[in-house]
Amino acid sequence: MTTATLQTTSTDAATTSFTVTFLIRRFDPEVDAEPRWQDFDVEMYATDRVLDALHKIKWEQDGSLTFRRSCAHGICGSDAMRINGRNRLACKTLIKDLDITKPIYVEAIKGLPLEKDLVVDMEPFFASYREVQPFLQASSAPSAGKERVQSVAERARFDDTTKCILCAACTSSCPVFWTDGQYFGPAAIVNAHRFIFDSRDEEAKVRLDILNDKEGVWRCRTTFNCTDACPRGIEVTKAIAEVKQAILRGTP
Ligand code: SF4
Ligand code: F3S
Ligand code: FES
Repeated sequence: MTTATLQTTSTDAATTSFTVTFLIRRFDPEVDAEPRWQDFDVEMYATDRVLDALHKIKWEQDGSLTFRRSCAHGICGSDAMRINGRNRLACKTLIKDLDITKPIYVEAIKGLPLEKDLVVDMEPFFASYREVQPFLQASSAPSAGKERVQSVAERARFDDTTKCILCAACTSSCPVFWTDGQYFGPAAIVNAHRFIFDSRDEEAKVRLDILNDKEGVWRCRTTFNCTDACPRGIEVTKAIAEVKQAILRGTP
């Protein structure tokens, strides 16, 4: 065991463990009036992830620690949290990429009601998502016996926004959303974008009208926190700008 910084070779990373201190913001609504910070020391390898630390704490130190995770591989979007003040997925955040000479702060994402420890109520987030009608709507029949044809260029038009995993890292890092929970938020706009610019869809105008609301795209102040936070590398702010332009044009 060592508490040195992580100047390791790949062999060291696999064989040398470190004591890492985690400060986790805990909240039990049945006991606590306010959230409180609790520290845990955990033996970690450089190649471990923050999610591994949470598992070790839960399994070996405090079984009451509450957090969401499912896939553990950056696909399901369930373990977005604030790590050292930045929204990230715990399953994609490696210990070697953090400064372990200081405690690592872990807390729930902001702007959504805190339920317990690292778990927030995602319902307001998904309510906005549902409002933008995030599904293909094409009532006209394709030519008999034919598929709905889409060119490579047409498919590429919305490729970036197909990558969303609904983790809420973007929306919960947006200062506008922190102060106005009614704002649709970047994730809903990203998922509207995915269908607005799909050449097969026939209801783009409906979605543009929905987002031309006082709580729609015009609330965005181009802060870019959402783009910085997105674990899928989606150009969120650019997608929002494209929806704004489509509203001004009146068509995708
Ligand atoms: Fe998560 Fe990115 Fe989708 Fe936002 S746009 S919900 S950050 S994957
Ligand atoms: Fe918020 Fe992203 Fe706009 S952080 S203000 S939605 S650019
Ligand atoms: Fe599924 Fe992290 S646990 S994205």
